[in-house]
Amino acid sequence: MSNISVLTIDGPSGSGKGTISLLLAQKLGWHMLDSGALYRLVAFGAEKHQIDLQDEVKLADYARTLDVRFEQADDRDELATFLEGEDVTQGIRTETAGNAASKVAAIQVVRNALLARQRDFNQAPGLVADGRDMGTTIFPDAGLKIFLTASMEERADRRYKQLKGKGIDVSLPALLTEIAERDARDSQRTASPLKPAVDAIQLDTSNLSIDEVIQRVEQLCQQRFDIS
Ligand code: C5P
Repeated sequence: MSNISVLTIDGPSGSGKGTISLLLAQKLGWHMLDSGALYRLVAFGAEKHQIDLQDEVKLADYARTLDVRFEQADDRDELATFLEGEDVTQGIRTETAGNAASKVAAIQVVRNALLARQRDFNQAPGLVADGRDMGTTIFPDAGLKIFLTASMEERADRRYKQLKGKGIDVSLPALLTEIAERDARDSQRTASPLKPAVDAIQLDTSNLSIDEVIQRVEQLCQQRFDIS
C-alpha cells in the first residue's frame, strides 16, 4: 500500500465521526472518504432501481458500477453527493436509508465490490477515512487510527438534533431503538464487523465538545504525521 498519510476514524452511528472527519479533512487540506455514504447510496439506488435487498448478485453488480460523485468544499458542513447525476445529499441521510444501508453492508459481496473504490481515495496529500472498518479492513496500514464512541443516549440525542436541524422529522425514542438495532447489526455481522482495530486509539466523546475532539485528534496527527 502507498505511504500517503491516512487517518481512519471508525465508530458507531452518532459517535460524531462524520462531523469530526470532515472538519479534520478541511483543516488538514486532505481528501475525505465517507464510506457510510457508499453503503447508503447502494441501498438508496437499489430502491430506485427496484433491486431486491436479498439479491446479493445484483446488489454487488450495482455497487461495483455505482455512478457517484462527491464534492468537498471548505465552506460546507457536508459532502455534496450525486448519484447518477442527481443531488442525493439529503435523501441518503434519513434513518430509513441508514437502516437499509446497514442491511446491504452486511453482505460480503457488496463490501468486496466497494473495496477498490474506497482505496482509490488514498491520494496525496492525505486522507481522512470515516466508517466502521477503515482501520481494520480498508486501510490496515493507516498512520493513525481513531475509534470514537459515545453513550447510546448521547448518540441518539446528537442524531436527533442533527436531523431536526436539517428539517427531517424524527422522534427520540424511535431513534434510540433504531440506533440500538443498527449497532447490533453492525457489530454482530460476520463481514467486517464494527470493532476497533487493535492499534486504534479509543476516544469516548460523550462529554466532549466537537472542538475538544478535534483538538485531541489534531495533536495525535501532529505526533504521527509530518504536518505543521
Ligand atoms: O456512517 P453511516 O451511518 O453513514 O453508515 C451507514 C451504514 O453503513 C452503517 O450503519 C453501517 O452498517 C454501514 N457501514 C459499514 N462500513 C463502513 C461504513 C458504513 O458497514 N465502513
